[in-house]
Amino acid sequence: MSVNVVKRFRGNITAGDHPYLQGPWAPLHEEINADELVVLEGQVPTDIDGVYLRNTQNPLHQALERYHPFDGDGMVHMASFRDGKVQYRNRFIKTKGMLAEIESGERLWAGLMEDPRLSKRPGWGAHGALKDASSTDVVVHAGKALTTYYQCGEGYRMDPLTLEETETPPWSPEDGISAHTKVDVHTGEMLFFNYSKQPPYMHYGVVDRSDSLVHYTPVPLPGPRLPHDMAFTENFAILNDFPLHWDPELLERGKHVVRFYKDKPSRFAVIPRRGGPEDIQWFEADPTFVLHFLNAYEEGDEVVLDGYFQENPMPTNYEGALPGYERMMSYLDQYKMGSKLHRWRFNLKTGKTREERLDERILEFGMINQKYGGRPYRYGYSAVQVPGWFVFNGYVKHDMQTGESWQLQLPEGEFASEAPFVPRINAKDEDDGYLVTFVTNENTGKSEVILIDSKDFEAGPVCRVQLPHQIAAGTHSCWANGVDFRDGGILARAAMEG
Ligand SMILES: [Fe+2]
Repeated sequence: MSVNVVKRFRGNITAGDHPYLQGPWAPLHEEINADELVVLEGQVPTDIDGVYLRNTQNPLHQALERYHPFDGDGMVHMASFRDGKVQYRNRFIKTKGMLAEIESGERLWAGLMEDPRLSKRPGWGAHGALKDASSTDVVVHAGKALTTYYQCGEGYRMDPLTLEETETPPWSPEDGISAHTKVDVHTGEMLFFNYSKQPPYMHYGVVDRSDSLVHYTPVPLPGPRLPHDMAFTENFAILNDFPLHWDPELLERGKHVVRFYKDKPSRFAVIPRRGGPEDIQWFEADPTFVLHFLNAYEEGDEVVLDGYFQENPMPTNYEGALPGYERMMSYLDQYKMGSKLHRWRFNLKTGKTREERLDERILEFGMINQKYGGRPYRYGYSAVQVPGWFVFNGYVKHDMQTGESWQLQLPEGEFASEAPFVPRINAKDEDDGYLVTFVTNENTGKSEVILIDSKDFEAGPVCRVQLPHQIAAGTHSCWANGVDFRDGGILARAAMEG
């Protein structure tokens, strides 16, 4: 393995007793390139080619008052696989906010748990006072990696292999883009949404495979909302209006207090992928909040949507947390929120919704084979959280047709994250491939990248590959096949096909 330290950043953050500034959440401040990583166990498969990207939060500067892990500066970690060899790189996402704070040598923006009036400069996104750290999500679209921020931001792009050339997309709208843009690998389109405190409160848009904004339309809501994810089928996009949002009266006085209105329904907007507000069909469902959806597809007159229903979107404070961290710990604990795999069926003819629970286990952060995104699918992969702690230590594979499931738990002290599906080259069927994830191993103080064989799910990782440093647990991730970004990738193929 050859390791080249590209840059070390100097900040002034101190961990203190903060549970999300140590252990698997300890921030990393160096950028490195590493070639031919050391294989600790097993063999790296030679039948995969592509890149695994994960976004993490690595704060450089001390919070103004109270740090929340979603306030940290974004960093992309990259592991590329080709011919059985693994390369690794990591880079901070050089957002405008991060560069301004480096120049000032201090934190300039209030965080999620702080009074927005503390912010020393105007912020970004739906909230208006937060820093766009682009630290939540990452996808590969039109040959570029795109990072996004959950409260909406400009979006930042970089080369998916070198992680160089940070830029904001030229089509990024005034209200920004939320995390959880959706790439349809069949059309090369990327669907996105944003939300804000000004009417119409939400927009939905489409960027085509040539990187042009080809559709952008209002999705009018009754007031400011806090949507986190969207879904799509072959012909429709699915947006949402959940009854968990800022208290409108307090919001008028500048206070951002989130409440769950348990007597109000959840609402889902089913809109043709190139449709306008007049084409939206709204469906009502049981009150909840959904952080993430797994997939959606069409079946007869119905649009079927799978996601994680929260039984308790507004949990009580976390018992046993250190003073001051009770609420934050609670909202990062899927066991407190009761996140369970759930199915909604929206009947386009009758306007009625049917819904059912698919599994009673606490699960979230689902992944699928992207080739089946928006289409009828058979296999879903959910992550198992460590109770009370926003890190994962296991996965459940569901066969959505038979109801069968398989569970893999990682050894004690190993903390993984969302694990995208990696198809084998010339895969024969939907689950012909692997799950990939970075693991922070508290037993060794190092991090690894591991692959799990989807067809032999409970057997444990097929390989463990050593990373040159310990990385933070982080949030979202993606896999992109080499054919979609190498040598001009999908853009070159689009040009050839005219
Ligand atoms: Fe998310």
